[in-house]
Formats: sequence, structure tokens, C-alpha cells
Amino acid sequence: MRAKISGLGMYVPPRVLTNFDLEKILDTSDEWITTRTGIKERRIAEEWERASDIALPASKEAIEKAGLTPKDIDAVIVATSTPDMTFPSTACFLADKLGCNKPMAFDISAACSGFIYGLTIANSFITSGQFSNILLVGAEVFSKIVDWSDRSTAVIFGDGAGAVVLTKTEEEDTGILSAVMKSDGSHWGSLHCPVGEKLKMRGRETFKMAIKSMETASKKALEEANLSLEDISLVIPHQANIRIINALAERLNLPDDKVFSNIHRYGNTSAASIPIAMYEAYEEGRFKKGDYLLLTAFGGGLTWGSVVLRY
Ligand code: UT7
Repeated sequence: MRAKISGLGMYVPPRVLTNFDLEKILDTSDEWITTRTGIKERRIAEEWERASDIALPASKEAIEKAGLTPKDIDAVIVATSTPDMTFPSTACFLADKLGCNKPMAFDISAACSGFIYGLTIANSFITSGQFSNILLVGAEVFSKIVDWSDRSTAVIFGDGAGAVVLTKTEEEDTGILSAVMKSDGSHWGSLHCPVGEKLKMRGRETFKMAIKSMETASKKALEEANLSLEDISLVIPHQANIRIINALAERLNLPDDKVFSNIHRYGNTSAASIPIAMYEAYEEGRFKKGDYLLLTAFGGGLTWGSVVLRY
């Protein structure tokens, strides 16, 4: 028994905040943000919009593309660091809004690595035979926890949601082939958000650890899947900074066309960044059914991990 991705969906709020808009409220410039991060613009949720609201259209699309209805979903998992409430989980709100039939529902708190963690959790529920269809969503409204007076973090993050449906399959050599997930809580202070406060990050320190951790986890995940980078059609890394993505590509010896990036349009959407990137890469024809993908993420915790899958 394996778990394959049977549907993809995404949603970003329509409101665009460009680097030029930020120039008006912060001591920053489009030139600094572009050269240091690769970001040109990001999306910002409305005042009333919460993570479950932006997760909803992404989820509807993924369920429809999987050829299913919300009633077919056995479990709803939301990876988020910006939940609607401390409890109930964002997943409970989402399942209710979708009209699911009382599925298991819970959130994952693993910051930017949440989607990678979630893939493995969903995969385990399916390969154990417990569930047949799982909705996994990365949904973030970081605009609500960003300190809009801190130029070192305000320019980086954005809001958005990406969703996948994982479905039981008996097809061989398909779905999630390997997963490496790690954490190191001793570095919590590098990137954190105390309850009721705003996000804090020591950027330079996080930057270095991100590259090293994603490189190591990616090599290990490939080894565990018995594959090499030549077998991989596309690497989809967490979209934290274009310089991190480029440094990772260099260390892995990857040509530009094997690494996907859309950070210029959305900034860092934390747990939503990989499913949003996967959605756009698929729509752009960057991979197709049967291709091997390598996904890798890094974030607060610290947490990091890599997944190799066959789409
Ligand atoms: O998603 C999970 C993990 N997150 C990450 O992986 C983020 C990792 N870190 C980064 O992406 C980068 O460290 C940043 C983009 C956050 C910062 O880039 P940097 O090249 O590491 O810059 P820095 O923090 O070393 O700051 C360099 C200079 C400083 O000025 P001085 O001290 O040299 O005078 C900052 O004050 O740039 C200044 N600066 C800015 N200037 C204009 C910091 N932010 C800005 C800004 N506009 N927005």
C-alpha cells in the first residue's frame, strides 16, 4: 500500500504588497529586498481572513482535482504556525467549512517544515491501512504575526495556502518513497514567535543552518530512496530566500532548470510554500505523472526535512 498525491490546489489572497509599497512604510528599498532575498511582492490576507479561510479554496480545488468530494476525506491535517485559534485546530474549522463527514482533524506545528512533516504523517496513516484519503494543507497568514516596524523580517513573509490530497494506491514505485525529518530545539531562539507576540528572527544565523540542513537531509532522503539526483526531475525547496535556494542548488550540483522557485511573487509563506510551489510547477509543466521529485524544507524549531516522491 502506498500514498499518492491525487490532487493539488492553491489559493493566495488577491491583495498584493510590493517592495515599492514597503519602501513607503519602512527604511528599505526594492533593490535591497530583491538582491538579498529575490522577493518582489507578497500577498496579504484581509483583516478578517484567517488560515482556515485561505485554506478553504485551496482544499476545494485539491479535492475536486482528486475526483473526490469532502465527504470522502478521512482526515484533515493543516500545517500552520498562524492557526485561527490556539484551539480548536485550524483543521477542525477547515473540515467544518468544507462539509467533511467528521474526519480526524488536527494541526501540525513545525513552522516552515510543516508540510514535509505532514506528508510523512499522512503517508503513515495510509500505508498502515487506516485511511484512504487525506487532505493535507499548508496555510499561513504570517502578515498577522509579522512586526511591521521591523524591516529585517517584514519584507520576507507572505500569506497563502497550498493543499494536496493523498490517496491510497497499490501502484508500485509511486507516492512517497523516503522521508527524513529532523529537529534541534536548542536553536529555538534563531526563529520564534512567543504566544501573543510578534515573530523574531536572527536571519544570518538561520540562513547558514538552512543551507547545510537541507543539503544533508536531501542527500539522506535520496540515499534512502535508492535514487541519485540524476533521477530527480525537479527539486522543490522551501521558498525562504533565493540565495538559500541558489546555494543549495550549487552544493547539490543542480542545474537551474531542476530547481523550482516562485519566491519573487509570494515571499516566504512558511508551511504553504512547498505545496504552492508544487502546484505552480505542475501547472507550468515542470513535472508530470511518473516523475521523481525532491522536496526540502527548513524552519523554526529548528525543524528541517526532505521527502522523495514519485508523482
Ligand atoms: O523560512 C525559514 C527560515 N528562514 C530563513 O531561512 C531566513 C534566512 N535568512 C535570510 O534570508 C537573510 O538572513 C535575511 C534576508 C533575513 C537578511 O539578509 P542578510 O544578507 O543576512 O542581511 P543581514 O541581516 O546580515 O543585514 C545586513 C544589513 C544590515 O545593516 P548593517 O548592519 O550592515 O548596517 C541590516 O540592518 O542589511 C540591513 N537590513 C536591511 N536594509 C534594508 C536588514 N533588513 C533590511 C531591509 N532593507 N529590509
